[in-house]
Amino acid sequence: MKRLALLIAVALSVIMSFAAKNKKKAQQPLKPMNEFVSELMGKMTVQEKIGQLNLLPSGDIQTGISENSSVSEAIRNGRLGAILNLKGVENIRKVQQMAVEESRLGIPIIFGMDVIHGYETIFPIPLALACSWDIPAIEQSARIAAKEATADGLFWTYSPMVDISIDPRWGRVAEGAGEDPFLGSRIAEAMVRGYQGDGSIYSTDKMMACLKHYALYGGSEAGRDYNTVDMSRIRMYNQYLPPYKAAVEAGVGSVMSSFNTVDYVPATGNKWLLTDVLRRQWKFDGFVVTDYGAINEMMNHGMGNQQQVAALALKAGTDMDMCSEAFTATLEKSLQEGKVTIDEINQACRRVLEAKYKLGLFHDPYRYCDKKRRASDIYTAEHRQAARNLAAETFVLLKNDHVLPLKKQGTIALIGPLADTKNNVPGSWAPTATYQYPTLREGMQKALQGKATLLYAQGSNICRDSVLQADGSFYRSIPRGDDARMRQEALDIARKADVIVCAMGELQEMSGECASRSDLELFDVQRELLEELLKLDKPVVLLNFAGRPTVLSWEQQHVPAILNVWFAGSETGDAICDVLFGDKSPSGKLTMSMPKNMGQIPVYYNHLNTGRPVAEGTQKFVKFQSNYLDVRNEPLYPFGYGLSFTTFEYSDMTLSSNQVSADGSITASVTVKNTGSYDADEVVQLYICDKVGSISRPVKELKGFKRIHLKAGESQVVTFTITPDLLKFYDYNLDYVLEPGDFDIMIGPNSRDVKRGRVYLRGN
Ligand code: BGC
Repeated sequence: MKRLALLIAVALSVIMSFAAKNKKKAQQPLKPMNEFVSELMGKMTVQEKIGQLNLLPSGDIQTGISENSSVSEAIRNGRLGAILNLKGVENIRKVQQMAVEESRLGIPIIFGMDVIHGYETIFPIPLALACSWDIPAIEQSARIAAKEATADGLFWTYSPMVDISIDPRWGRVAEGAGEDPFLGSRIAEAMVRGYQGDGSIYSTDKMMACLKHYALYGGSEAGRDYNTVDMSRIRMYNQYLPPYKAAVEAGVGSVMSSFNTVDYVPATGNKWLLTDVLRRQWKFDGFVVTDYGAINEMMNHGMGNQQQVAALALKAGTDMDMCSEAFTATLEKSLQEGKVTIDEINQACRRVLEAKYKLGLFHDPYRYCDKKRRASDIYTAEHRQAARNLAAETFVLLKNDHVLPLKKQGTIALIGPLADTKNNVPGSWAPTATYQYPTLREGMQKALQGKATLLYAQGSNICRDSVLQADGSFYRSIPRGDDARMRQEALDIARKADVIVCAMGELQEMSGECASRSDLELFDVQRELLEELLKLDKPVVLLNFAGRPTVLSWEQQHVPAILNVWFAGSETGDAICDVLFGDKSPSGKLTMSMPKNMGQIPVYYNHLNTGRPVAEGTQKFVKFQSNYLDVRNEPLYPFGYGLSFTTFEYSDMTLSSNQVSADGSITASVTVKNTGSYDADEVVQLYICDKVGSISRPVKELKGFKRIHLKAGESQVVTFTITPDLLKFYDYNLDYVLEPGDFDIMIGPNSRDVKRGRVYLRGN
């Protein structure tokens, strides 16, 4: 007994002195960043400096700390700067303690995770978020994600992903904002603001963002993931680079280099990209981390052995090595052999330490380890409501022949492989989802309680090919059954119903990383089931689940109502009901064109004219013009397209002047009237076309947008201010120029149906 009391007393005194030490540490004012980091680096060995450049997955410390793991050894030896994928505030505290208490210099570790569209409250996939065009709400989604993640100990996220892509075969379009650089830039800035806030030291409910994947990853040939990218500098500067630049200008703390080559050199070893453009032209002052294993992958790209590719990466401007362990394995040797310099190592180390300083870790390494916050700040009713509201804004109504909204009455048959799954609700890249939310079926049951009868049948597998289905559900599967039997069950309940709601599409893991597809039509067994259901001659609604634009030409022809619901996150069930039953009118607008068939890809709205253009809307083949024999040029649904339960009428456009000077501005206005019977939101879009330039210019480019709310019968004048800044572009020499001449100004509900006016830009 006495011994126990003694033990407790000793333990208490250790804890108290530790707490006092930490408190003292927390209260000490730090020296200014430069001075502080220089002093610290003065004490560091070369190995310790290289250690700061090393990022490893939590691996064997994932679930509680394993004292002898290689990760913990690296921590104790000062050979690790950051950890990826360790979840849980208590785990993080323990590991941080190991770094602070047991390594020679006690330098804290950065803890990072892919918090891409929410933490435990999951928002829709980023492509869907973009379709809301609701910048303040998107910013709020990042703010909520940061609040939840930091409440669980994390403070670095690998987001926003801002890769422009015009190829829906590429599964990672799910993670970006779509095909447009202007919208993509606004979203990139908003996400950075949401995650980081705007202080020079992050507050404890904010986290460091990581812009990715720099650069051009979305240009992978044939939409095959990790594939070669090759494009002109003019295209890069005008079409692909703007969102990265916008995020840098918004102050993003870190940048992730991409897997692909840029001008035949992998991005991770590309000095022009990482140093000349990113740091010299754009003035980025944070640190660059590679993508997962990207340094070692440079060996496959044919850039040399591990020592050579690691040196190439460092010299190009890479600061942190994600999971290749190539810096720790080779840089010391390269330094001895004169293949890298100590200045290069110092520079990378300084950038990592500066990030730690800005994160406040030297002030208090445990500032993100507040256990109380875990209970109060995560998956709250308020956060879930925000996610539900935003999810409803992301749905895009593609077609509606007087079917939607549905009444909460009679009998509704809910059919399809995506109707009753939790696994396929969050969307790809939601590693922190907790799967506590309702499925669509459960959401509908709740919405219809006491008002209507809901019948349910799965109806089919995702696809006939079980291997394909298994490959497309790598982490989380859904049950397979006998297709004939399931179809019969579905037809049986459909016969009893007044209306049929089909929840069909692809699995969530059929988009995202390494989820390229060469055929984007609705899968065989689902299409066959849909055909059978349509034969019953009842109203049918297709809820299309997709992480990308899919090909819906057959459905457009045959199904009376189509709502594209993407993967809408944890609140999917309720959010779909909000729209399906008319509590909210859909207002989402596509941010990637949806093709008529696979052969049209890439099809995008801001293309160049050819020397032999076919007039927009031409419905037949024209010999010796730029078109196909077997399909017209336009996509099935254009960029910016999306219907509502109401109708909007756009007046002709009024321009405040038909001339503008290089230092002036004009306004363009339309009156938008809600001519239907529902109150609804509308996204009014501004496009501009530069009629004559020193290089060929796109047929139109998005240059503004406004989300407005109109009650039934209400009108509003929507005005855009056009400054010469919106007319600039990168010319042949990559100078950002303003060239006098004619510009078409267009305003409309999408990129196709626009009102036009013309303005002349005077030279000064
Ligand atoms: C992905 C990145 C991600 C990283 C860390 C890579 O495979 O390309 O987007 O941030 O893994 O999980």
